[in-house]
Amino acid sequence: MHLATKHLLGIRDLRPEDIQIILDTAQQFKDVLQRPIKKVPSLRDVTIVNLFYENSTRTRISFELAEKRLSADTINFSASGSSVSKGETLLDTVNNILSMKVDMVVMRHSATGAPHFLAQHIPAAIINAGDGINEHPTQALLDAMTISEKFGGLKGVKVAIIGDIMHSRVALSNIYLLTKMGAEVTLAGPPTLIPKYITETFPVKVTYNVKEALQWCDVANVLRIQLERQNQVLFSSLREYNQAFGISRTLLASLHKDIVIMHPGPINRGVELDSDVADSGQSVILDQVENGVAVRMAVLYLLSGRKEASS
Ligand code: CP
Repeated sequence: MHLATKHLLGIRDLRPEDIQIILDTAQQFKDVLQRPIKKVPSLRDVTIVNLFYENSTRTRISFELAEKRLSADTINFSASGSSVSKGETLLDTVNNILSMKVDMVVMRHSATGAPHFLAQHIPAAIINAGDGINEHPTQALLDAMTISEKFGGLKGVKVAIIGDIMHSRVALSNIYLLTKMGAEVTLAGPPTLIPKYITETFPVKVTYNVKEALQWCDVANVLRIQLERQNQVLFSSLREYNQAFGISRTLLASLHKDIVIMHPGPINRGVELDSDVADSGQSVILDQVENGVAVRMAVLYLLSGRKEASS
């Protein structure tokens, strides 16, 4: 099983077959992670650098754990505390790290296209761990794995993506993935946070009424309001956002059906999602995090070109 790509820069570049190969391989690695000994030698002697130019909890820990479970050697780099603060360029930083014989680079950066730039200039395999407001491909893959586990696949599953679509790399990667794999997608939220180009580019529906989206869907993927990326007022206040677009227990009860609740994290509790929903039996938020390790093991393994996934 081979991917038709050397890097994972975005879901945009993947064929449906590539997505399925990653999800199938992730399932094999998830089985490995249930064993008493969770480690396999698949990436022994492979050196991976985790380059994080932007904050992260889940993605960073998940990649690091995936690398350790695969027996890779890992180096962790944070822009804060490095020579980036002295003015070193991205390319100089990476070339210096590569001269220490690094095979793969996992990269998060606040600039859209930063991993694509690196892929054009260095020989190592690049994995995008989130670039600006562009893509977060491993998040979409772990979301897809979580949905597939619940519904036995992705085809025909109705997924509502709710909230700050405009600033969300999770939304864009999910839209690429779900529409490629035959799921149905509706976007819901305030009109100011749903860019028009998305509805003109992708086969998705839009509603500004969250209850309507919830009544339609099997799964609601609720997005974080990304206050740090908003440089203009796009809604009146967090309190009013919660009242109009937040997911509460009362709102879910009014649907008279059970839907699955997802969130990529970190959650703004009481803004896009109330605590009693985030922590309810309908929430699969921690399943998403668990699946993240298996998905990242699959991506690292498949891009390494090594064979024998779970020996
Ligand atoms: N979902 C996600 O990317 O979380 P982090 O920013 O904590 O990595």
